[in-house]
Amino acid sequence: MQEIKIFSPATVANLSCGFDVLGCCLENIGDEMRVIKNSLQKVRITKITGQDLPMEAENNVAGVAVISMLEKLKEKQGFDIEINKRIKVGSGIGSSAASAAGAVYAVNQLLGTPYHAMELIPFAMEGERLASGNPHADNVAPALLGGFSLVRSYDPLEVISLPCPEDLRMVILHPLIEIKTKDSRAIIKQSVSLKKAISQWGNLGAFVSALHTNNYELLGRSLVDEIVEPNRSILIPYFQELRSISMESGALGFGISGSGPSVFSMCRGDEDAIKVKRAIQNFYENKGIEFDLHLSRINPYGIKIL
Ligand code: HSE
Repeated sequence: MQEIKIFSPATVANLSCGFDVLGCCLENIGDEMRVIKNSLQKVRITKITGQDLPMEAENNVAGVAVISMLEKLKEKQGFDIEINKRIKVGSGIGSSAASAAGAVYAVNQLLGTPYHAMELIPFAMEGERLASGNPHADNVAPALLGGFSLVRSYDPLEVISLPCPEDLRMVILHPLIEIKTKDSRAIIKQSVSLKKAISQWGNLGAFVSALHTNNYELLGRSLVDEIVEPNRSILIPYFQELRSISMESGALGFGISGSGPSVFSMCRGDEDAIKVKRAIQNFYENKGIEFDLHLSRINPYGIKIL
């Protein structure tokens, strides 16, 4: 195979109760990438459309992820990477993760799959290190694996795929302001009280249990974040109002998507999700802030070949 075209999906990290350890994969929202073997023994970013991003491979999240993979494989083959960026940078739905995960997935395919999807996670994390200063896996893992992912441990890295209840829907509101993950990580407090930690691990455990038992109400109740959300939510215009509107319209739960500014409403079934989406649209329409609004299923497959 000389070249490959792929779709690399957007993802929602943290899901309130799982800062840096929990994430899920979305459908339809994502980037398209084309990766072609070259004879230059070099990784090049040859085309980027949709967003203004670095073209030097060493400064591009897709480039560094692929370079780290080729170094590990001691592989001399070069690649040209083209990215049609549909996920806006700084949106909170895994823009850098889609590029990094998509690039390593594509190169792995072109090399005859030396790695399983799970083994690609550490390389994609190098892209996250470049983007935010921190190699978190809660976007790249669900992009590569699909569904829900839990990072049990970073050192050594251990990622677990979780089951996905069929009727789950996500309504994603992206107010078109840019929040850099690096900046929104800088405002998080570095210590946590025992009381808050107890609440958080209770909710995370319950969330995982609810995924296994299709317990939608428990899923919703577990979407609580007393640790990070209080600091980050102030950066998101009308955050508290959005929560109330979303919950009153039938959402199971509501929270910040990744590092924001996107927010998510988790819903059961299309009917409720459409109601929530409509209510959010009506509310946000006259606030003077441009926005994107999406309704998505959970994507069980992750990246796909086009
Ligand atoms: N867990 C990361 C954070 C996700 O919240 O900073 C960034 O999308």
